[in-house]
Amino acid sequence: MKNPFRRKPPMPSNRYVLGEEVIHPGKYVSIPRSAHLAILGESNSGKGSVIANIIKQEVIMGGEIWFIDLKAGMEAANYESVLDRKAYTLDEAEELLSAFNADVDSVAAEWRGKTRNLDDSQVRHRLLVIDEAADMIKSGPNKKKSDSCIEMVRSALSRSRALNCTMVVSTQNPRVSTSLPYRSLLLTTLALRLNSKSEAVMALDEDAVQRGARPWSISFNRPGDGYLWDTETNSVRFLHVPFVTDEEIHSLRRVGGDGDGRSGSGSPVPATPSPSEYRGLLRRPPLLRCEMRDE
Ligand SMILES: Nc1ncnc2c1ncn2[C@@H]1O[C@H](COP(=O)(O)OP(=O)(O)OP(=O)(O)O)[C@@H](O)[C@H]1O
Ligand SMILES: [Mg+2]
Repeated sequence: MKNPFRRKPPMPSNRYVLGEEVIHPGKYVSIPRSAHLAILGESNSGKGSVIANIIKQEVIMGGEIWFIDLKAGMEAANYESVLDRKAYTLDEAEELLSAFNADVDSVAAEWRGKTRNLDDSQVRHRLLVIDEAADMIKSGPNKKKSDSCIEMVRSALSRSRALNCTMVVSTQNPRVSTSLPYRSLLLTTLALRLNSKSEAVMALDEDAVQRGARPWSISFNRPGDGYLWDTETNSVRFLHVPFVTDEEIHSLRRVGGDGDGRSGSGSPVPATPSPSEYRGLLRRPPLLRCEMRDE
């Protein structure tokens, strides 16, 4: 007889596959879908590729995708057909983050005392991408708004993981990232090409460098190479993130939705993607075996 309390075996939908190990091609590196991720790397190091791969997988998994891109939406606008909510100005970012936190509050109020960690069967997963976090830091007349946004990111990060929300934050500048009050809440870091060892120590930490992370030695002609560091498991992986073409990005379509850019909160949970959808997405079936698993 089936035991109703037995946990379901881990499904690919619980993880984002980031890429393949450079020294062991075919060995895939993935992170839990619930892991808040910091992506750090110089301009042209491939941060956009990491975001594209994660969004592609989130589309298949049927979660909501929210995107803050204060470079006037140059990156995010490519994904508009699959975005539930977007912010291209500081004013819009403040509105988006207020809405995000209000939803976190109401989900917490609904589920408090009933469960400690929500999953897709209880509430639709929500991915919030912030491309170039440094653009949110403003001085002068916008400082108050900027501070308010940064505080809302911190607040969302500190509460949202258990509520089936994930945040992915990218920045070019590890110096800026260390001064962000929410940096320590991004427990998983992917360091793409960086300028120097001192930047690597800032981006990851001394421990990661001692364990073999060398993002300063990634060559300029290897965008997409990076070191993944998970402070929860203290493990480092050297991987290559596959390139995603503009055509692939523009052809993304929301699973079971109309892709009209409006929030889909409260809509039914879409079906789990079939293995063939994953194969198409990743070109090869993802290996579920990976040292960074947390299940
Ligand atoms: N995974 C990859 N494999 C091969 N080439 C890549 C990869 N990722 C990016 N590139 C190449 O590098 C260029 C820059 O990539 P991308 O826009 O992702 O960098 P970025 O780090 O986001 O830069 P920026 O900080 O300027 O936004 C791409 O146009 C592409 O030519
Ligand atoms: Mg970019």
